[in-house]
Amino acid sequence: MKGIILSGGSATRLFPLTATTSKQLLPIYDRQMIFYPLNVLVKAGIKDILIIVAPEQSGNFLNLLGSIFDKTGVRLEFKVQKMPRGLADAFVVGENFIGKDNVTMILGDNIFEDDFSKEIKSFKSGGKVFAVKVPDPERSGVVVFDKKMKAVKIVEKPKKWLSDYIIPGLYIYDNRVIEVAKQVKPSARGEIEIVDLHNWYLQRGELTVGLVKGKWLDAGTFDSLLEAGVYVKDKKLHEKFHPVINKAIVEFNEELKKIAKKKL
Ligand code: DAU
Repeated sequence: MKGIILSGGSATRLFPLTATTSKQLLPIYDRQMIFYPLNVLVKAGIKDILIIVAPEQSGNFLNLLGSIFDKTGVRLEFKVQKMPRGLADAFVVGENFIGKDNVTMILGDNIFEDDFSKEIKSFKSGGKVFAVKVPDPERSGVVVFDKKMKAVKIVEKPKKWLSDYIIPGLYIYDNRVIEVAKQVKPSARGEIEIVDLHNWYLQRGELTVGLVKGKWLDAGTFDSLLEAGVYVKDKKLHEKFHPVINKAIVEFNEELKKIAKKKL
């Protein structure tokens, strides 16, 4: 299983914060947002992770993550997405990195409280996504269930209410996703939509939709960014990171302090 964190985009909803850095490098309480999706992948035992970034932000990602996992066995690769073409583009940009493997893709601005290790480790083929009930489904990819809670269809940001359940940004697919993503045509808003990939697997009876139990946050607005920081602090989520990540952050901080001292 390979892992991808999609961390590009222009994050105009967070201007002026994102005029000087990337959304995924903004703080969620005491550490950068990207450590949260990274934690989900590392917890699931994924060792090869591709971070897809916007061209103008690539230096910032490299400064933070370029050598932070050197002594850990977790291998990070970086790739630039020249234009924010849509979420499905992650599998086109990541084609060589994925190779012949399966892949778990997580959005760089999604914060999950749950541990998805079991689902990721036991994945064999098809597609696996998750659903969560939210008060504002019109902001996301909405999933419609039948009476037996079997997914019937998935629609990106529907104008009319269809369901309270949405599909958050954690997607597990088999290797066919690369070819499927290449065939996706841009939607009316000009993006190659991730829901087209879900629906491709759904139509073939090969999509499993699990349920998110804990908190899920998409930290893409001022309010959700603040909510995420407060939630993380209250629930002490920042203390529950995988030891590999915690150790890497502590060592990185020590190194920065030493360098700062030397400069003084
Ligand atoms: O958060 C979950 C939702 O994410 C899903 O329910 C939707 O189906 C999915 O389309 C997506 O909706 P958003 O409107 O939240 O997507 P957004 O444009 O904010 O992009 C999500 C992240 O991916 C964000 O961190 C920026 C990054 N991104 C986005 C695009 C379009 C890229 O790196 N490249 C891109 O081309």
